[in-house]
Amino acid sequence: MKAVILVGGKATRLLPLTSNTPKAMVPVLNTPFLEHVIRHLSQHGVAEITLAQSHQQQAIESYFQDGKRFGVRLNYNIENSPLGTAGAVKNAEKCLTEAFLVLNGDIFTDLDFSAMIEFHRQQEAKATIALTPVDDPTSYGLVDTNSQGRISRFLEKPKADEITTNMINAGTYILEPDVLTHIPPETNFSFERELFPFLLERGEAVYGYSSSAYWTDIGTPQKYLQLHRDLLSGQSNRYPPPSSAGIIANKGSRIHPTAEIEGRALIGANSTVGERVKLRGTVVIGSDCAVGEEATIEDAIIWQNTRIGSKSTVRNSILADNCCLESNCVIKDSILGDNVTVVSGGQLKPGSKIQPGEVVG
Ligand code: GDD
Ligand code: MG
Repeated sequence: MKAVILVGGKATRLLPLTSNTPKAMVPVLNTPFLEHVIRHLSQHGVAEITLAQSHQQQAIESYFQDGKRFGVRLNYNIENSPLGTAGAVKNAEKCLTEAFLVLNGDIFTDLDFSAMIEFHRQQEAKATIALTPVDDPTSYGLVDTNSQGRISRFLEKPKADEITTNMINAGTYILEPDVLTHIPPETNFSFERELFPFLLERGEAVYGYSSSAYWTDIGTPQKYLQLHRDLLSGQSNRYPPPSSAGIIANKGSRIHPTAEIEGRALIGANSTVGERVKLRGTVVIGSDCAVGEEATIEDAIIWQNTRIGSKSTVRNSILADNCCLESNCVIKDSILGDNVTVVSGGQLKPGSKIQPGEVVG
């Protein structure tokens, strides 16, 4: 089976992390987000994937190239102007001659694609939409189904008084190719607001495939942090959590024996954790980082090549590539873009978002 992954969104809610890094390349467990998705598809036998981009994202192509390294063949489609979710798939129509998968490119899930494909075939559906339960459907696509799983209503971003179920569109579809004939070419067109309601109105066989597999989108910094907490505590069955010592240390990393780990940590290649450093909660440190003595890091994601000075504290924060905290800095509930420097003794106001390259403190 072939797949199209939609990677065209602007990712404004993840700024300033996404100032220089496309959302698809944002690291999850020190690996680009999209690599997790591509490997997951490959494990389910998907051999050819089209990445639908609304603007050139060179970093994606430079990293994934032809896909061979990840066990798949990759095509890159770039839209002249954003075509919307359905328009982007229409744009790939010439390669889609049999039932195919469509994935929103910002979803991390353990969904069993093979079982979903089987379900789609058994139901002889035109379209099958993966469904997942959420507490608050208002920022998603709400999906009502009957007892056989057939969808009766699709309502994108419902208002609070329109909520009839907690099941939402999980952002994975299986579509028969003739569905594409209902999408106008080279026109901005939406699955959620246009195509799915249209198919339902016509009485087409559109089914929901409900799954309780691990699922989250990485739309916001809080969700991005939560994804790491979930993964390091073993909530996804695709990623084993650290053993009892609570730490996974990659090649070339050095953790001083006096460092204390109370929680779960992943330390990237060639990174050092100094004397009496405290790592608490969920901590992910990328490659080539250095954490100075007596620093405290609690619930934080730190990308590559970043320095944390001695006696500094980083809590509930995300630091992008090449940052430098000098000594005695305090960073709480904040996000630092690439190449940010916080001068010695600097304390950021909680909730700070520091643009790439700034020097603050
Ligand atoms: N190529 C391309 N072109 N991709 C696009 C475009 C476009 O014009 N617009 C959006 N995308 C991609 C985004 O990059 C993302 O991967 C996916 O399409 C969905 O767009 P979002 O902007 O992330 O939508 P959302 O999160 O508000 O809602 C969607 O996802 C929810 C699940 O997280 C909808 O599909 C909801 O129904 C769903 O519940
Ligand atoms: Mg989204």
